[in-house]
Amino acid sequence: MKSFTKMGALAAIVTVMLFSAGCGGNNGTGSSQTNAPTNNQSAGGNQGGAAGNGKVVLGFSQVGAESGWRTANTDSIKESAAEAGFELKFSDAQQKQENQIKAIRSFIQQKADVIAFSPVVESGWDTVLQEAKDAGIPVILTDRAVDSQDTSLYETFIGSDFVEEGRRAGKWLVEQFKDAAEPVKIVELQGTTGSAPAIDRKNGFEEVIKDNANLQIVASQTGDFTRAKGKEVMQSFLQAHKDIDVLYAHNDDMGLGAIQAIEAAGLVPGKDIIIITVDAVKDGMTAAAEGKINFIVECNPLLGPQLMQAVNDVLAGKEIPRRIVTEEGTFTSEEAKAVLADRKY
Ligand code: AHR
Repeated sequence: MKSFTKMGALAAIVTVMLFSAGCGGNNGTGSSQTNAPTNNQSAGGNQGGAAGNGKVVLGFSQVGAESGWRTANTDSIKESAAEAGFELKFSDAQQKQENQIKAIRSFIQQKADVIAFSPVVESGWDTVLQEAKDAGIPVILTDRAVDSQDTSLYETFIGSDFVEEGRRAGKWLVEQFKDAAEPVKIVELQGTTGSAPAIDRKNGFEEVIKDNANLQIVASQTGDFTRAKGKEVMQSFLQAHKDIDVLYAHNDDMGLGAIQAIEAAGLVPGKDIIIITVDAVKDGMTAAAEGKINFIVECNPLLGPQLMQAVNDVLAGKEIPRRIVTEEGTFTSEEAKAVLADRKY
């Protein structure tokens, strides 16, 4: 077991690394924290459990590899864990909750020091989280939330404000069509059913557009956050609805799949159909710079440094915020063009 001093030193090193890496700046590379007391139920109690080499063992269960965002998120976690000197046990759930539950149980068996995961859906986690708590292993949520009433089951939730992302998409649309005299027909490609970003991005968007009678969602269906499903569902939207004015896609990948369907139908994306997406990954930004996507709401996948900091803080027994919100921006086509060359992911 590591001594508290050793953990404290490690935490200090990672903190310095994080600050010198430079969070913050335009269009969302930084983070803000909301302060509230942490549970920290097992602080300092289980460090170095499984590695046998003095390294902190972090078990991480990832949603899958469904999107460009996810790939960037996985890379960020792997790189940051290596920089922090942690032993990372990484598991890809292939978008299945049962695989995540299995992975978490396996991390418990292996006596990981900390377990982190990005829950594919919001519900159904209480039993396995209670098992981790009973084993004295702190859990950190990244990217997506759970709907557990018992918030003592996890230490903190690091990630975006998905409701706000939906609102940003809605606000831009309201502004674009504020003088519209005719109904504006909107189709929506939702993310994975039951996932926090799908629920919240829908709610935030609807909250903002609801007072504008002209803005009408005529179809809304899941595209599971993938390019292939985005294309498939957009094809069916185009067949079922004449004169679609706007596509709101919950991520870039579904938007990019939809663009293929729109072009195949002989229409011009970004002109015949106005397109709004969420994420701002390189491929999405490229399409925006080309004018095929009109507006992108950023969702920052680079959560690795914040996660490693939280792991160190929890293990050092420090009080950490219950919610760590990532700061993000938005991009019009012109803004995407201006920053595309420097976009890292
Ligand atoms: O949870 C974040 C979402 O998951 C991203 O917006 C999407 O691209 C990913 O699949």
